[in-house]
Amino acid sequence: MSPASTQSACRTCGSPRLRLGLDLGLLPLANSFLPPQRAVDPTPEPRYPLRVFYCENCGLIQLRDIVDMREMYDDYAFLTATATTSLIHFDQYAEDMTRRLSLKSADLVVDIGSNDGTLLKAFRRRGTTVLGVEPARNLANQAMAEGVPTLNEYFGPDTVERIGTHGARLITANNVVSHVQDLNGFMESVSNTLASEGIFAFEVPWVVDVLRHYNFDIIYHEHLSYFGFKSLSDLLGRHDLELIDLQHFPLIHGGSFRGLAAHPRTFPRQSDTITRVFQDEKTGADFATLNEFAYRVHDIRRRLLELLQDLKRKGKKIVGYGAPAKATILLNYCSIDRSILDFVTDTTPLKQGRFVPGVRIPIVHPDEFRKAKADYALLLAWNFKDEILKKEQEYLRSGGQFIIPFPEPLILGQNSR
Ligand code: TMP
Ligand code: ZN
Repeated sequence: MSPASTQSACRTCGSPRLRLGLDLGLLPLANSFLPPQRAVDPTPEPRYPLRVFYCENCGLIQLRDIVDMREMYDDYAFLTATATTSLIHFDQYAEDMTRRLSLKSADLVVDIGSNDGTLLKAFRRRGTTVLGVEPARNLANQAMAEGVPTLNEYFGPDTVERIGTHGARLITANNVVSHVQDLNGFMESVSNTLASEGIFAFEVPWVVDVLRHYNFDIIYHEHLSYFGFKSLSDLLGRHDLELIDLQHFPLIHGGSFRGLAAHPRTFPRQSDTITRVFQDEKTGADFATLNEFAYRVHDIRRRLLELLQDLKRKGKKIVGYGAPAKATILLNYCSIDRSILDFVTDTTPLKQGRFVPGVRIPIVHPDEFRKAKADYALLLAWNFKDEILKKEQEYLRSGGQFIIPFPEPLILGQNSR
């Protein structure tokens, strides 16, 4: 373990005027699910400061404490293909972009942070040439074993060289830009890789939605920036790229946007949509809003813990549902440990048998959830609420209830829907 380094200036504009808005304390790395032997070792796992700052110059909300990337990404437990909602979203994504660019078999689609290759498989089904770029070894190997050509590296100048300058008709990067430390270097490489008539499509959770819904658990060490499109547009502009369109997906990760960018004057710019979004960001992501968010986050912690402790006193059996990275943040920040949750259930084989870091709650196969007949399930994968409630009708019919943490703790049973 190496200590986190603290950056002194804003990640995009370089201003030193960074103002603290929220301090979540020292928390473990969200995706470092513990193997069984580590979970019985009394030595505590590494914890790093998680503090959220506001740049008084450009408005970018960001972390300053940076953890070594190798600690976070060499071996990665997040898989794209774990929810039907995501599979449908990415299939539709490939369909939209294939049509928009009239992609042909010779056109190259590069996906940065390609994970298990889910999106690229959807493009390949439509006949285009694909290439993934994925730093996590386990994921790159898995994608390659499934026939998706993948470079096991961080996207950067070497990748541009391997692909060839302006060699990609479409570059996609979903939930990647928020993870990038050197944003200017990253955008420069995107610009150099993108064909003159190409599109760069990227998805990020929208900071306005994060703040509006109090989704503090998506704040973790990997997510260095919480974007609005004003700062992204300024950043793109410095690298010969222009924001041309925005599409909102309210149900993806609690509210995401897909931004489309291209070299200037290549495609028409959807100015009305862009202006509207910039306008929303002026009041929806300023320092006052971040402050209000911090206040509500403390309140949600208190109320959620009180609710759970009250149910425990009444002898109720409670488990956790889903072990996304955000579960690590929610459970540790709210001090919800094994005295409250018997286990957390998750469909990802890579996570089953492991433990949530910090609170060390075991992660089990969904069969265990079926057998346990819990009274309450704390919905940690809240972004898949609709899919999960639909799937768990039997649990609900037999009297089981869900506890939904956001925007405020709420109990949801068959009769309360
Ligand atoms: P994510 O929110 O980071 O995409 O991760 C969602 C997690 O929830 C992932 O580990 C899979 C898990 N999950 C279940 O266990 N059951 C489900 O029905 C769904 C949709 C997700
Ligand atoms: Zn700034």
